[in-house]
Amino acid sequence: MKHLLKMLDLSTEEIIDILNLADQLKYELKHGIPHPHLKGKTLGMIFQKASTRTRVSFETGMYQLGGYPLFLSSNDLQIGRGEPVQDTARVLSRYLSGIMIRTFEQKEVEDLAEYGNIPIINGLTDFSHPCQVLADLMTIREFKGSFDGLKMCFIGDGNNMANSLIVGCLKVGMAVSIACPDDYQPPKEILDFASQYDCFSMTNSPMEAAKGADVLITDVWASMGQEGEAEKRKAAFAGYQINDELMAAANEGAMVLHCLPAHREEEITSKVFEEHANEIFEEAENRLHAQKAVMVKLMAD
Ligand code: CP
Ligand code: NVA
Repeated sequence: MKHLLKMLDLSTEEIIDILNLADQLKYELKHGIPHPHLKGKTLGMIFQKASTRTRVSFETGMYQLGGYPLFLSSNDLQIGRGEPVQDTARVLSRYLSGIMIRTFEQKEVEDLAEYGNIPIINGLTDFSHPCQVLADLMTIREFKGSFDGLKMCFIGDGNNMANSLIVGCLKVGMAVSIACPDDYQPPKEILDFASQYDCFSMTNSPMEAAKGADVLITDVWASMGQEGEAEKRKAAFAGYQINDELMAAANEGAMVLHCLPAHREEEITSKVFEEHANEIFEEAENRLHAQKAVMVKLMAD
């Protein structure tokens, strides 16, 4: 594994290795055991979109690993004024040990990896959010003990989260169902991948998708960059909500996850959100541990 660009690139074994290391790093952090695997290394963090969790967890994680994180807002970089990503990649490769980037197009992340010669980590694109899904898988395994026999159900937009969850959950052996409006299905590349699995299903009925689910996950109806479509999307996604009725269709003891930020009473009710807050905020914490594991795998000597 040279980069973390999207879940489609990872093998099942690589995913499990990252999760095992993440569990170990979480244990070490909780027990005050130092783990300076990235002493002397630097991570550039390019943000073309807002972030709370990704920024703070990468920055803190790098510090805990003995390295140094640099926050690089695209407003201040020449990339924000049109310098090509191919040139940015070749310059930054000469200063840094690795780059985390949050941007719009997946191609930009793939180009950074192609033109640079240091590890590239996707901190969210319109297509993919692999760091979040590694943390989600870590959280599911932590609460449920294993992935065996579990079904994950995603309700809502066929977006970066849906794409990455479908691939990640299928790769670790979970069954997957997704409920999305017909006009908001995941891209063909993801559906082609999922169609290899008998345990994948897609419907436009949230109730049908939630039946027998052990983990229910949703995400905002309008992602970053889609603010202008918010009203249109509100109408299209009405009913695509995790609420008491949906929870009643799921298996007893089903978990609820949300990558955050959440829009209460849109994709999830406040009641369900608060009843599952322990899982949702453990999931947020696990971003730190999962990303530290990714950085160690990619950047340690
Ligand atoms: N879930 C997530 O990526 O959060 P941020 O946008 O705050 O980084
Ligand atoms: N789908 C959301 C996820 C935010 C973490 C977005 O892209 O804005």
